[in-house]
Amino acid sequence: MSQAAYAAAETAFVRAYPEYQTTGLLDDLRATEYARLERSGQIYVDYTGGGLYADSQIRAHADLLVNHVFGNPHSTNPTSLAMTHWVEQARHSVLVFFNASPEDYVVIFTMNASGALKLVGESYPFGPDGQYLLTFDNHNSVNGIREFARARGAQVTYAPLLPPAMRIDENRLVELLGQAVAGRNNLFAYPAQSNFSGVQHPLEWIAKAQAKGWDVLLDAAAFAPTNRLDLSQWHPDFVSLSFYKIFGYPTGVGCLLARRATLAKLRRPWFAGGTITVASVGTPSSPGPRPTRTARRTTSACPRWILA
Ligand SMILES: Cc1ncc(COP(=O)(O)O)c(C=O)c1O
Repeated sequence: MSQAAYAAAETAFVRAYPEYQTTGLLDDLRATEYARLERSGQIYVDYTGGGLYADSQIRAHADLLVNHVFGNPHSTNPTSLAMTHWVEQARHSVLVFFNASPEDYVVIFTMNASGALKLVGESYPFGPDGQYLLTFDNHNSVNGIREFARARGAQVTYAPLLPPAMRIDENRLVELLGQAVAGRNNLFAYPAQSNFSGVQHPLEWIAKAQAKGWDVLLDAAAFAPTNRLDLSQWHPDFVSLSFYKIFGYPTGVGCLLARRATLAKLRRPWFAGGTITVASVGTPSSPGPRPTRTARRTTSACPRWILA
């Protein structure tokens, strides 16, 4: 087809389908930010497993690294303070993006959604008479929490799906939610969007489950890339996320959004890292370090006996 014939065909097409022009913004975006798709000749349709990064993200990050000197965060030298600033800025941006009040929610950075889920699993105070209730269509990283629950004597129950739509059997769910033992720790986990079926479950269950004595873990890893989760409207106790699924780059960063009120009942099974103020190796029977969430390292991370 000649260029003139192509232009005439395009004009006729746009006249017949004027709404096509409203997608021009996407064409521009594809040309400016995702030209590598054109170059590679590929069409990328996966938008729950991993989002594509825009070219400008890579340039902005490269500029940041090339033009600044950054140290390890949470210390007081200038390079460290610069890094701490960006970490806190990122934390703030996450809260803003999810419309979460800093009074209600804490952002805990993890390696990915699985890391966030493991944090909940290993530190949630499961125990005899407590329960872990989860839907059939959870990601394996949510299923894996049952090993922590079982090891501590909690009952593990699956809420079934109804084929063919693969939605939850709501009557059964209401029954199961009614079985929480008052005064015990009960955790209900479900995906806002299932990676297995693509089904989006009602967020209304969050408050319904909480009203019946459950803490709610909402896995938003597959939901957040194409939906806004408004935490001023919905108040799950825990939310798990992977950022590469939302904006592609960098990989290796996710977070646990945790409600402060529920976070207080988690028990960390171990400690690590530079935010520990001091750890004693001289008194094995001591309860160990008492890191506070706001603690900043004021000395090197030397164990107490070296400092003494
Ligand atoms: C719903 C859901 N939860 C959790 C995960 C785990 O995410 P990651 O592998 O980034 O830890 C995925 C990954 O696809 C997911 O779709």
